[in-house]
Amino acid sequence: MADWVTGKVVKVDNWTESLFSLKINAPVHSFTAGQFAKLALDVEGERVQRAYSYVNSPTNPELEFYLVTVPEGRLSPKLRALKEGDDVLVTTDAAGFFVLEEVPCADTLWMLSTGTAIGPFLSILQLGQDLERFNNIVLVHAVRYQRDLSYLPLMRELEKRYQGKLRIQTVVSRERAEGSLHGRIPALIESGELEESVGLKISPESGHVMLCGNPEMTKDTQQLLKQQRGMAKHLRRKPGHITSEQYW
Ligand SMILES: Cc1cc2nc3c(=O)[nH]c(=O)nc-3n(C[C@H](O)[C@H](O)[C@H](O)COP(=O)(O)OP(=O)(O)OC[C@H]3O[C@@H](n4cnc5c(N)ncnc54)[C@H](O)[C@@H]3O)c2cc1C
Ligand SMILES: NC(=O)c1ccc[n+]([C@@H]2O[C@H](COP(=O)([O-])OP(=O)(O)OC[C@H]3O[C@@H](n4cnc5c(N)ncnc54)[C@H](OP(=O)(O)O)[C@@H]3O)[C@@H](O)[C@H]2O)c1
Repeated sequence: MADWVTGKVVKVDNWTESLFSLKINAPVHSFTAGQFAKLALDVEGERVQRAYSYVNSPTNPELEFYLVTVPEGRLSPKLRALKEGDDVLVTTDAAGFFVLEEVPCADTLWMLSTGTAIGPFLSILQLGQDLERFNNIVLVHAVRYQRDLSYLPLMRELEKRYQGKLRIQTVVSRERAEGSLHGRIPALIESGELEESVGLKISPESGHVMLCGNPEMTKDTQQLLKQQRGMAKHLRRKPGHITSEQYW
C-alpha cells in the first residue's frame, strides 16, 4: 500500500484546452529523475489514483506534472479543475525504472516522446547529472498540433545550456508547422528524415533509444528499430539498445 501526503497546488498552467501543468508543494521523499508519482483525489468516497511523471529536477522542491485531459477519463478532468490552493494527494515515494541508471553508455542518447511523456526527459535534462557518458543527446517531442509544444521554450533553454551536446527536434502530426518534422516518429525514422534533420544516425553501435508515451508509438518504434536497425530491448540480464515506458 502506498503512503500518501497531502499536497497544495501552487500553480496551474493551462497550455491548451486539454494540456496543463500542475505545480504542487508536498513533503514527498526524494526521487530519481525519470520516475513518476501517483496523484489522487477522493471522488464520490473513492480514492482515484493515477501515475504522473515528475517534470521538475529532483533538486527543485516545487513538484511539477504535465497532464492531458482524457475525455471521459476518471481522474484527469478532475485534476484539470484544480485551482491554486486546492489539495491533492501525492505518493510519498516515487516509482519506476525509466531512469539513467538503467541506461548503458552510448555515443548518442535518443530521447523520443509523444504528448505529455516529454516529462521524464525534462526532469533528467534539468538535473543534468550522469550525462557525461553520452557525447550527444537528442530530445524529440512529437505532438498532434504545434500549439501542443508546451515546453518548447524550456527545450530551447536546455539546448543552449548543453552547448551543442543536446539537439532538440519537434514533430507535429496533424498540421504542417515551421521548424517541426511532419508525421509520426516511427515513419520519420524509417524514411531517414529524423536522422537527416538532427544530423546523427540511429544504430546499435552508437546509440541508445529511450521511448516514452503512447503505447502504440513505443511498440511501433521498437519493432522498427529491431527490424530495420538490428537494435534490441535493453534488459539488466541482457544488454541492448532500447528502453521504454508506456503511459497506458
Ligand atoms: C508510468 C506512467 C506515467 C504516466 N505519466 C503521465 C503524465 O506525466 N502525464 C499524463 O497526462 N499522463 C500520464 N500517465 C497516464 C495517467 O496515469 C492516466 O492514465 C491518465 O491521466 C488518464 O487517467 P484518467 O483517470 O483520466 O482516465 P481513465 O479513466 O483511467 O482512462 C484511461 C484511458 O485514457 C487514455 N489515456 C491515458 N493516459 C493518456 C495520455 N497521457 N494520453 C492519451 N491518452 C491517455 C487511454 O486510452 C486509457 O486507456 C502515466 C501513466 C503511466 C503508466
Ligand atoms: N492534443 C490535443 O489537442 C487534444 C485535444 C483534446 C483531447 N485530447 C485527448 O488527449 C489524449 C491524448 O492526446 P495527445 O495528443 O496528448 O496524445 P497522443 O494521441 O498520443 O498523440 C501524441 C502524438 O503521438 C502520435 N502517435 C499516436 N499513435 C502513434 C503511433 N502508433 N506511432 C507513432 N506516433 C503515434 C500522434 O500522432 P497522430 O496525430 O498521427 O495520431 C501525435 O503526434 C487523447 O485521449 C485525446 O483524445 C487531445
